[in-house]
Amino acid sequence: FTVDWDASAAVKGGFDSFMDKEIHDQPKAVADTLLGRTDEKGALVLDELRIPETVLRSIDKIIVIACGTAAYSGHVAKYAIEHWCRIPVEVELAHEFRYRDPILTPRTLVVAISQSGETMDTLMAVRHAREQGAYVLAIVNTHGSTIPRESDAVLYTHAGPEVAVASTKAFLAQITACYLLGLYLAQLRGTKFPDELRETLRELQELPPKIQQVLDGEGYVREVAQAMKDEPSFLFLGRHVGYPVALEGALKLKEIAYIHAEGFAAGELKHGPIALIEEGQPVFVVVPSPRGRDQLHSKIVSNIQEVRARGARTLVIAEEGDEAVVPYADIIFRVPQTATLMSPLVAVVPLQIFASELAKAKGLDVDQPRNLAKSVTVE
Ligand code: G6P
Repeated sequence: FTVDWDASAAVKGGFDSFMDKEIHDQPKAVADTLLGRTDEKGALVLDELRIPETVLRSIDKIIVIACGTAAYSGHVAKYAIEHWCRIPVEVELAHEFRYRDPILTPRTLVVAISQSGETMDTLMAVRHAREQGAYVLAIVNTHGSTIPRESDAVLYTHAGPEVAVASTKAFLAQITACYLLGLYLAQLRGTKFPDELRETLRELQELPPKIQQVLDGEGYVREVAQAMKDEPSFLFLGRHVGYPVALEGALKLKEIAYIHAEGFAAGELKHGPIALIEEGQPVFVVVPSPRGRDQLHSKIVSNIQEVRARGARTLVIAEEGDEAVVPYADIIFRVPQTATLMSPLVAVVPLQIFASELAKAKGLDVDQPRNLAKSVTVE
């Protein structure tokens, strides 16, 4: 009696690839990142930050530095932190930050986001920021890595080891950690009422089962991805927090399926990108909640109409119950209802699955895409 034993399949937990496994780890990655960071009364406790409260109270600017997917998580966080804390947040690619002359003071909090904690561009930017007197907080997944060691403080994401080169679960965990930071600053500085804070924290805590719900619908995403495997290009549109989600969706497709893909802020369409739309061009649109108080939803429905009228095939990520998109969508990937600021954590999941399934349909190795490395330790 012999048993065939494939060690790598075992660590992949029965999935085809590490990327698939890590996409499915996401409910846990978010839950674990939230775990143990509240007290019995539901208030946030981030003692681990080790930055004196007086410093956190006096911050007048936040600059997020990161590369790749980690930078998009910072881009999402900007919307939330500015809204909750009324502190201006800039998001900058680490390699750009370093080679200009950024305005840094002891009241600037620099937040360096990195899955590996070893990205050289981000590390050099951390050193640069500290030399200029800024406080540096690292949001990192890998314990004992260099970036947290060289920073003033660290807030770890608890996504578990990420093996696939294209980042997935670290992205969700990074947004979660940035949100914890934002809510903590709001708590400390009193920019949100305690009941509003508790409500927002509750929305965050409700995400893991919602992410699982999106994963449960992966069969449909797979079918669509397989049917579109020979498409030469995809466009991605989003507004507000949907904009960095669109950028991340495009990045995933480039990274692992080697397909030309570009993300745009939907409002920018009319300023150029709409010229790219021709008959049959697939366009993903990340649609915000129709329950939001602003005009985001109606604006993006108009954008779907505009590209559809010019022949685009529209693949729409929309909340359950959002009927307004139905007349203009060729394909709809449904996500559960969430508050607008929470929506990236569900909306990005179909895009990750789409990229992975399309790449596999093309016969590519999704874990080891050509020319890329998991952690880029050269400048
Ligand atoms: C590489 C990886 C990306 C990642 C980026 C930043 O380019 O291929 O997936 O987003 O580095 O990595 P970090 O470890 O700093 O998050």
